Amino acid sequence: MINFYLKSIKNQPKVHGSVCVIGLGYIGLPTAALLANRGYNVIGVDVNKKVVDIINSGNIHIKESGLDTFVRAAVESGRLKAYTEPKEADVFIIAVPTPFHENGYDIPTPNIDYVISATKSIAKYIKEGNIVILESTSPVGTTEKVAEILAQERPELFKTVNSEGKKNANHQSLIYIAHCPERVLPGKIMNELVENDRIVGGIDKISSQKAASFYKTFVSGEVLITNSKTAELCKLVENSFRDVNIAFANELSMICDKYGIDVWELRELANRHPRVNILYPGVGVGGHCIAVDPWFIVADAKKEAKLIKTAREVNNYKTEWVIEKIKNEALKFELKNKRKPIIACMGLAFKPDIDDLRESPALYITRALKQDNLNILAVEPNICEYEEFEIIDYTTAIETADIIVFLVAHKEFKSLITNHQSLLTNKQILDFCGVTKLS
Ligand SMILES: NC(=O)c1ccc[n+]([C@@H]2O[C@H](COP(=O)([O-])OP(=O)(O)OC[C@H]3O[C@@H](n4cnc5c(N)ncnc54)[C@H](O)[C@@H]3O)[C@@H](O)[C@H]2O)c1
Repeated sequence: MINFYLKSIKNQPKVHGSVCVIGLGYIGLPTAALLANRGYNVIGVDVNKKVVDIINSGNIHIKESGLDTFVRAAVESGRLKAYTEPKEADVFIIAVPTPFHENGYDIPTPNIDYVISATKSIAKYIKEGNIVILESTSPVGTTEKVAEILAQERPELFKTVNSEGKKNANHQSLIYIAHCPERVLPGKIMNELVENDRIVGGIDKISSQKAASFYKTFVSGEVLITNSKTAELCKLVENSFRDVNIAFANELSMICDKYGIDVWELRELANRHPRVNILYPGVGVGGHCIAVDPWFIVADAKKEAKLIKTAREVNNYKTEWVIEKIKNEALKFELKNKRKPIIACMGLAFKPDIDDLRESPALYITRALKQDNLNILAVEPNICEYEEFEIIDYTTAIETADIIVFLVAHKEFKSLITNHQSLLTNKQILDFCGVTKLS
């Protein structure tokens, strides 16, 4: 399937030009590989030399369906080369991390240090007519900040008269700067990079148009034009919408627990209402998008963003609630059996069927149980090793454990419930993600 998809991309009419992609992670590398297979000469840049070496050998350092095929083909064609320093290109795409500062206050603040250093790193390579696109999820005003930095570093590119003496009527600079947030789903990135609609917001109209024309060379979804601030807030709002809705499901799961009601049954029944669609509850919210981006709004709009802040708090509280539940069950077991139980923590990733541990509530829970001196077995079928815990095969863990805690609804766990029920006989099961209900 992915080979067919790759072939169809390569067979499209030829494109010309070069693209420099800064940051070769979950977003930058798939984008770089896609563009190279589309026909662009791509300079991939990452500050991590190990990442650069792996990519130049035609391999990948992250797990993403179909990415290996795309990267191998891109490197073998000579159209994707990775470096630790940027080079000249027609288009620059910045896809570096935008985490938050863990500053001890109750509202984390966005950390745009990587964007600032990536912008400074490309400044000396930019020429008149280039397009600079910020793809990193960013607080409102960051694209304008990118423009400010470039104006400081390269004032000659921000003149109102170009090198041929022509006046720039509608345009603040000789380069084009825009934000185009990424909204791909891990696991489906190679398809969604092409098929999703894209929002492109320039610092001025012509920047929006130039950046949109670039995306139209490889995106089959609609490319919608706006200004940079609207594009920035649009991405943050999309993730906040998800966070608020998941918070509702998580809050409901705790209310149901109080009354001894099965939240999964309740959800099914309530969703029979034609205009109700309650999402799945879980152990919290993770990943470096939904668990992070709402704070970018709250940090700057403290008085206004009350619901968004509360949703973040509810989802974080759900994780603490799960820890307390597990600890209580462990204590009951110990009182009854005069020994501490062995607890299998099933899943560490932030959501089903991926290897991404960033901001993962399941990892946080497993770590908290271990720090509380409980005997835990860490299970994550999508990861072979992890520095903090020995990763145990899931069938071994189930055979050994007294308490089996389902934290992430991975497909391996669902098939275990369907096909190997006998392994679970006489085990105490705590299912916080619906594995036993969704199988
Ligand atoms: N991962 C996703 O599913 C996803 C989805 C939508 C949006 N985003 C956003 O995209 C952005 C990138 O996320 P990601 O998941 O690709 O991050 P990532 O951590 O996987 O990769 C970022 C890469 O950038 C490199 N880097 C950091 N600073 C650099 C610099 N100055 N120059 C060159 N390389 C540098 C790092 O070494 C790393 O390899 C973030 O803003 C994120 O919020 C991510």
